[in-house]
Amino acid sequence: MVVGAGAREHALAVALAKTADVVVTPGNDGIAAHGITCVATPATELSGDLFVIGPERPLVDGLADHLRAQGKVVVGPGSDGAALEGSKAYLKSFLAAADVATAAYGTFSDEASALAFLATMSPPYVIKTDGLAAGKGVLVTSDFDEAVRDVRDKLSGASFGSAGTTVVIEEALNGEECSLLVLCDGTDVVALAPAQDFKRVGEANTGANTGGMGAFAPMPAMTPVLVDEVMARIVTPTLHELRRRGIDFRGVLYAGVMLTSGGAKLLEYNVRFGDPETEVLAPLYGDDLFELLLRVGEGRLRGVTLAPTGAAVTVVLASHGYPQSPRTGDVIAGLGVDGQLATPLEGVTVYHAGTRRDDGGRFVTAGGRVLAITGVGETIAVARRRAYAGAALVTFEGSVMRDDIAVGVV
Ligand code: AMP
Ligand code: GLY
Repeated sequence: MVVGAGAREHALAVALAKTADVVVTPGNDGIAAHGITCVATPATELSGDLFVIGPERPLVDGLADHLRAQGKVVVGPGSDGAALEGSKAYLKSFLAAADVATAAYGTFSDEASALAFLATMSPPYVIKTDGLAAGKGVLVTSDFDEAVRDVRDKLSGASFGSAGTTVVIEEALNGEECSLLVLCDGTDVVALAPAQDFKRVGEANTGANTGGMGAFAPMPAMTPVLVDEVMARIVTPTLHELRRRGIDFRGVLYAGVMLTSGGAKLLEYNVRFGDPETEVLAPLYGDDLFELLLRVGEGRLRGVTLAPTGAAVTVVLASHGYPQSPRTGDVIAGLGVDGQLATPLEGVTVYHAGTRRDDGGRFVTAGGRVLAITGVGETIAVARRRAYAGAALVTFEGSVMRDDIAVGVV
């Protein structure tokens, strides 16, 4: 049972379906068209051998606790573990207790002290909404006046309602960013291949922060030595602190890491599979994903080693106006009845994020991120060529896409 409705859940479902019968709740029209059963029934009313929860909101709200109380095997932490993502202020105090390297910061609920602290920082300024904000609660800007406005809008509730009325203001970190997704069964951990996500809407990392415009894996700059360093200095101390607090974390601990000149530092934790990282990670594990995730849920990860094969690149097609004001209802050309490329290309899969079928059966846009088109191959270069060849075959009015995902990566 896969819980969620986007391209991440589509990619998980396709990979799990290699060795298991998969149902997605609620899924979307593109997943269903691909031959995977989607049902509207809530997860708590379904039965199955394994429940994999995609998005953060239900985790923060305690869905995993609820399912475990019903005796189900779940990939996804309870609300106690999910707080690492659910509150940036909690995360920062947790990291201090765990002695994990992260950006210097202050936490504020009142405007006067927030602005006084901001005035002591040097640009670029980093301002984060405390609560969940669908990946859009972070502003990084060198414009002091914009930073001041952002603090005011967040604290007043104007931008993110009650999720924003506490802010974290922190030191800007510089370097390459890496998403290291680590499977954790409460006691043991094993890292998936390092991935890189492209968060800004525009080429060369310009424009607004988004949920992610594309990704690739594995990430060559994140060498095995660096992965070991992140595991030893960031992930392991985190696991110790979780256990010290009595938190049995079974799921994906996704470390958003900045590789700075002073070593790797933690930007954030997510408590779930990344999106679009999963669209490049799930295809790398062959037939192994179901057994692997079952081990996570059952606490049987000890001794597991992973051998991902090949490389993958995913390119996101977003709707007109994304991320500020995405337009929906644009007709998508280039897809067949199964939601895949009408003219299939080797090594290309179309994962549906925000699509639906209209009364005539045509796929139309139905969200900010619309499709994640993944190419797989022996190398990043081959995977990239395939992803962009696939993306070129799919068109809709006003689509937003970055041309530079994984460019120059060898
Ligand atoms: P977060 O949700 O905390 O990962 O923030 C979203 C994005 O904002 C990150 O992926 C980074 O690209 C950027 N970001 C967050 N914190 C910082 C920081 N301290 N310095 C520089 N960039 C940051
Ligand atoms: N790719 C960023 C995220 O999943 O939050």
